[in-house]
Amino acid sequence: MQHFLSVGDVKNIDILVAQALAFKANPGRRGTLGAGKRLGLLFLNPSMRTRLSTQLAASNLGMEAIVFNIDKEGWKLEFEDGAIMDGDSVEHVKDAAPIMGKYFDVLAIRTFPTLKNREEDYSEKIINAFVQYAGVPVVSLESATLHPLQSLTDIITIEESMAKSELERVPKVVLTWAPHVKPLPQCVANSFAQWVNAWGRGNADFVIAHPEGFELDEKFTKGAHILYNQDEALADADFVYVKNWSSYKEYGMMAEKDSSDWMLTNEKLSFTNNAKVMHCLPVRRNVELSDEVLDGPNSLVTEEAGNRVWAAQAVLAGILDGIL
Ligand code: CP
Repeated sequence: MQHFLSVGDVKNIDILVAQALAFKANPGRRGTLGAGKRLGLLFLNPSMRTRLSTQLAASNLGMEAIVFNIDKEGWKLEFEDGAIMDGDSVEHVKDAAPIMGKYFDVLAIRTFPTLKNREEDYSEKIINAFVQYAGVPVVSLESATLHPLQSLTDIITIEESMAKSELERVPKVVLTWAPHVKPLPQCVANSFAQWVNAWGRGNADFVIAHPEGFELDEKFTKGAHILYNQDEALADADFVYVKNWSSYKEYGMMAEKDSSDWMLTNEKLSFTNNAKVMHCLPVRRNVELSDEVLDGPNSLVTEEAGNRVWAAQAVLAGILDGIL
């Protein structure tokens, strides 16, 4: 069965990117592919871009999308095997997921990590339970450790920007840690690293910059050049991807001391090769990124968020065609 949980589920990134850009050029080009099919969008956590862009993508393919905010409107689900359900969980995923599999042809799920138990989060207990019991293809709308629809969008956005600026050499791509007011998951950073490494064989000079103690899981970053000095990392960059993440090592911890000097500003941007700036959004202005960068000519963030539709459409089409 064709799931979309990570870059490992994609046979050819270049073909998927080309399909997404073809949908951008002509959103209705496969407008009946999903006729008579239903997409269930389950949210265990909040979302704006992922929810709306995936609904639009389904609509462009003639597929009906139904949103279920299971965290607010559904019964509390139990995920432990053999649980004695005498607490506040009302329904086991073993019972709920197969029913959703009867209602929907494709099930898409958003579920964040606890940031308390690394082993449990990195086992992807929740999304894997739906994979195990739903009996239909499952699409990640961001899981405990990865955000593949975002990362596909990011690759599309980089490719599109390179084509526009006629950049033909291998680009330097920098993923830089940014300050934040609360601990965030590692998902976007893990996933971006995984996709750039998979796409970037020969396509990108990939650098990750973060303070000591914020090393990501090596299984995602292997192949990237890791630096603790942000200014050094930014030198001659063509693309700068800004994102906060909490510590993987001291699991879920945020920076102890003031880290505001990691915020990307125009001064820092001047070290780059007039780099384009990316962020998955939502962004904390003047904490992660300064107003001047976000509102300036180098920011790709709105274009990037717009591209979420075409990434989702390419993935849904790939699943419906059975050739992701
Ligand atoms: N980037 C992203 O996933 O945005 P949302 O959380 O709003 O869906």
